[in-house]
Amino acid sequence: MDKFAIHGGVPLRGEIAVSGAKNSALPVLAACLLTEDPVILHRIPRVRDVRTMERLIEYTGASLERDGGPLKIVAKDITSAEAPYDLVKTMRASSLVLGPLVARCGRARVSLPGGCAIGARPINLHVTGLEHLGARIRQEHGYIEAEAPQGLRGAMVSFDRITVTGTEDLMMAAVMARGDTVLENAAREPEVTDLAGLLNKMGARIEGAGTSVIRIHGVDHLHGAEHTIIADRIEAGTFLIAGALTRGDLVVRDCVPEHVHALTVKMREAGVTVEEAGPTALRVTCEGALRSVDMITEEYPGFATDLQAQFMALMTQAEGISLITEKIFENRYMHAPEMVRMGANIRIDGRQAIVAGPRELTGAAVIASDLRASASLVLAGLVARGETVIDRVYHIDRGYERIEDKLSRVGAKIQRVG
Ligand code: EPU
Repeated sequence: MDKFAIHGGVPLRGEIAVSGAKNSALPVLAACLLTEDPVILHRIPRVRDVRTMERLIEYTGASLERDGGPLKIVAKDITSAEAPYDLVKTMRASSLVLGPLVARCGRARVSLPGGCAIGARPINLHVTGLEHLGARIRQEHGYIEAEAPQGLRGAMVSFDRITVTGTEDLMMAAVMARGDTVLENAAREPEVTDLAGLLNKMGARIEGAGTSVIRIHGVDHLHGAEHTIIADRIEAGTFLIAGALTRGDLVVRDCVPEHVHALTVKMREAGVTVEEAGPTALRVTCEGALRSVDMITEEYPGFATDLQAQFMALMTQAEGISLITEKIFENRYMHAPEMVRMGANIRIDGRQAIVAGPRELTGAAVIASDLRASASLVLAGLVARGETVIDRVYHIDRGYERIEDKLSRVGAKIQRVG
């Protein structure tokens, strides 16, 4: 199993490029199941979760082609409207094929995802939403079986709580339903807007994506399209924090500054200088002492839960007490005990983490427990004295494209070891 060996203490300098967003690529790949025509996708990141989604859509009978350029997907005939457990268990976002498969085939059989390191991850809101659109749903042998032999029909769906993939799943289910659908209390994440952009290019009629009310006018048929997905805001945020933590001078390019606004506001409050370096680039430097700031994770446009662990790494180096509150997932502090082993002063109390700093971090052997936790340990390793060895980096490969190569190019001493 691969590990990372990191020698901390080197300021990161230069330019680092952001890849396409994993969390856009996943729903966008699922959306290709809605048409028998080719869909051409640019900037799909080569990360493990995307590979899993590619395997899943191949499993349904679609073909994929990638010759070093864009990805071409043709779902001419769907031969199996199923997402088997073996694929779903490694990636909960597999439930994103539920909506498109029911819409296209009138039925779908998708394994239930089960829990994961960061919390229970139920999909009850996807299921209830589909029922509103007229699907009959049974749960048996660990699978959700959905049927709508006469097709789905438009309806009003009001989500009990905001769900990102739930909004995406329902949007894909509703595009070819008979009549109009309104999704209320919808997620406003940029990835939802990106997906709606592709669906509209395919002939869908969606309005309001990016707001909490999305209106969808059902159409009979979707056709092929070409689309470039947005930059990964979580990768961008991770690099911004890396630049600040190492007291470097780093330009994070090919990103959308607005998508990391909640983070850059907090970083500036903490004493970090973040400047626009063009419409798609941010420059980060940090000269004075870092100050502690409190932070609460929220749905977009609030502070992203997917950057909470990385922000905690930053706060270990800040003067004072920082109170971090995780509102989205119930168990997303697995990185904290590992940071404590590196010398951080962090106390967890339910949904809150109390970080007292600054504390000098020293290199240690640590274990990555989930994707974003691993990223935060890489950050801690970049600032720690001595060598940090991170085990189970397959977690980080799920969502970051060769992070060690990107970081090495801006000066980090990080190596993948077998
Ligand atoms: N929830 C329910 N029922 C549902 C769906 C969600 O109770 O049917 C709860 C969840 O348990 C959670 C909250 O609602 O407490 C929000 O979950 P959401 O459905 O929004 O999460 P998700 O769609 O499964 C996406 C991202 C996650 C990111 C969250 C929150 C993708 C593929 N995944 O997950 O990304 O943390 O939104 O922003 O878009 C990651 O990339 O590391 C990652 C975990």
